[in-house]
Amino acid sequence: MPNERFRIVGGTRLHGEVHVSGAKNSVLKLMAATLLAQGKTTITNVPDIADVGIMAELLTRLGCTVSRDADTITIDVPEIPGHRADYDLVRKMRASINVLGPLVARLGEAEIALPGGDAIGSRGLDFHFKGLESLGATAHNQHGYVIATAPNGLKGAEITLDFPSVGATENLLTAAVLAKGTTIIDNAAREPDIVDLGEFLISMGANIQGLGTPTLTIVGVPKLNPTTHRTIPDRIVTGTWAFAAAMTKGDITIHGGRASDLEVPLEKLASAGAIITSTADGIRVRMESRPQAIDIATLPYPGFPTDLQPMVISLNAIAQGNAIVTENVFEGRFMFVNELVRLGAQISVDGHHASIHGIEQLSGAPVAATDIRAGAGLVLAGLVSDGVTLVEDCFHIDRGYPQFIEQLRNLGAEVTREIGD
Ligand code: UD1
Repeated sequence: MPNERFRIVGGTRLHGEVHVSGAKNSVLKLMAATLLAQGKTTITNVPDIADVGIMAELLTRLGCTVSRDADTITIDVPEIPGHRADYDLVRKMRASINVLGPLVARLGEAEIALPGGDAIGSRGLDFHFKGLESLGATAHNQHGYVIATAPNGLKGAEITLDFPSVGATENLLTAAVLAKGTTIIDNAAREPDIVDLGEFLISMGANIQGLGTPTLTIVGVPKLNPTTHRTIPDRIVTGTWAFAAAMTKGDITIHGGRASDLEVPLEKLASAGAIITSTADGIRVRMESRPQAIDIATLPYPGFPTDLQPMVISLNAIAQGNAIVTENVFEGRFMFVNELVRLGAQISVDGHHASIHGIEQLSGAPVAATDIRAGAGLVLAGLVSDGVTLVEDCFHIDRGYPQFIEQLRNLGAEVTREIGD
């Protein structure tokens, strides 16, 4: 497939309306969790992104029948699904690992390819494996796969995570719902995606207390039933539009965006000078002057999301003043900073701190997206650069932002997709 890129001519104030669809980081986990119940589960508000297709392919290979109609996906799970997730899919999409918990819980066995490293750091899976072992499974690596087995079923246990990992909380939650007895997960992640998954599981018949708090209590049930569920809106896409409005001195009404999932980022944007108001079905973000620099430190929810860190660095690159951005969640997440420097940004990185000296105007240049969020951060920077910015490897961005180019154009941006060299 030819490598595509975005071509951005900077300088437009974004103005108008956008619609936010379902959260990527929620829907993929909901799809994986359908494996917990035999029969047809329906998920609505499904975003039109490549990763949904990859998860659908993975579920199909496990014997499910997956059908899609507009933003609704139906997954028919057989009585005994397959138990192996192959490397070709797992390497394309890390969230494939989310089938581990449901398969071990339902079948007592799973073989999942190890995803390996990626562009935002080493991303271990030790909490997933240790937690499953506490629940009575054995897990070992063989030929690039983790082989997890629990021939006599899982048993409730007390698990304390060393860090509130989103993926580990999800895998352990989806394993514990069918375990015998009570499981307590302490230091659990509290992201809205976890709450969405928990509510989905409850609608299947699971018994879960404490969603949205650091302690989850799960009383196992013998069987879950198929359900119908609407995916929550994507808070990272919402946040990206909010930063886009602030950076371009624009005015964007974000339909479907939930301010309650973004309290810290919106407070930070307000301190940068943005005017943020609630609307009937979302939020409106306006900016009239050059943003003020904002210091942030990424943290697990409800802290500032690491997935919006590239956007905050881009904003600071053109802000009035100096800022320090501290990355506490992923070690490799400043890699894209070198790309921003190509646009003239004044940034120096020392360990997990980036110091940014805001300048009035960035200068367009070719840059490359290294992951979804870094790519979106570079697009925002391109919008406020003079001349042309080419964002290469835009397939990364397509993984997380449905209809990105179209929505940007509706807001007045001069952006096109073109074939790269
Ligand atoms: C999910 C999101 C990602 C987001 C991240 C943090 C999806 C598909 N991805 O990723 O967009 O940036 O949450 O909000 O939902 N860790 C370990 N051992 C483990 C598990 C995690 O050391 O067993 C470390 C990771 O290396 C990382 C940190 O914990 O440094 C957080 O990772 P985690 O919360 O698990 O992120 P993901 O679920 O991979």
